[in-house]
Amino acid sequence: MRRLRTAILISGRGSNMDALIEAARSPEFPAEIALVLSNRPDAPGLARAKAMGLATAAVDHKIYAGREEFERSMQILLETYRVDFICLAGFMRLLTPWFIGAWSGRMLNIHPALLPSYRGLHTHERALEDGVKIHGCTVHFVVPQMDEGPIVAQAAVPVLDEDTPESLGERVLEQEHRIYPLALRLVASGAVRVEGNRVLGAATRASAPLLAPDTD
Ligand code: GRF
Repeated sequence: MRRLRTAILISGRGSNMDALIEAARSPEFPAEIALVLSNRPDAPGLARAKAMGLATAAVDHKIYAGREEFERSMQILLETYRVDFICLAGFMRLLTPWFIGAWSGRMLNIHPALLPSYRGLHTHERALEDGVKIHGCTVHFVVPQMDEGPIVAQAAVPVLDEDTPESLGERVLEQEHRIYPLALRLVASGAVRVEGNRVLGAATRASAPLLAPDTD
């Protein structure tokens, strides 16, 4: 089996990166981590990946005149490491249509909300303000529109009365760590196909919890 040579792009903590690295340790996992790339040289995740013996690189966006110059430097590294596929994992730079086009169908992102609800930042705060009972996370293919693109996997969590943005965020993060490796496995193994905006395949199954206030 040829494993998909995958780059993980991060900007900070890198807990989703950890989950992907852990999954890819298994020789049966259909993707291998060929490179961890950060736009922040001081990202904690980058130091951890390096300590684990993975190939790492930093492309500091601040030293480039524009987004495309920055991306062209990343692209050279991705080509050098013969990368086939990209997982954005807390990568906090908007990407240009040029870069997204170059990786069309070959780039996933994880978003801490049930898309298409709560695109953008501060998703947990906004979910609490709106009083929703279900929140969650989404892994999707990257398209030029921010936080859009065919959805590979989602997981839902309950919103509890006592939740703060932090506690809700932790509950969502646990699910992120579960669904990102699952989504990469589905895509890298060829188990799913994209039709329009839908990702279809026998392996994508989810339960549908009904959540209501607990009145006990
Ligand atoms: C995650 O919540 C992810 O969904 C979002 O940014 C956060 C990154 O966290 N895109 P980490 O760096 O993976 O720990």
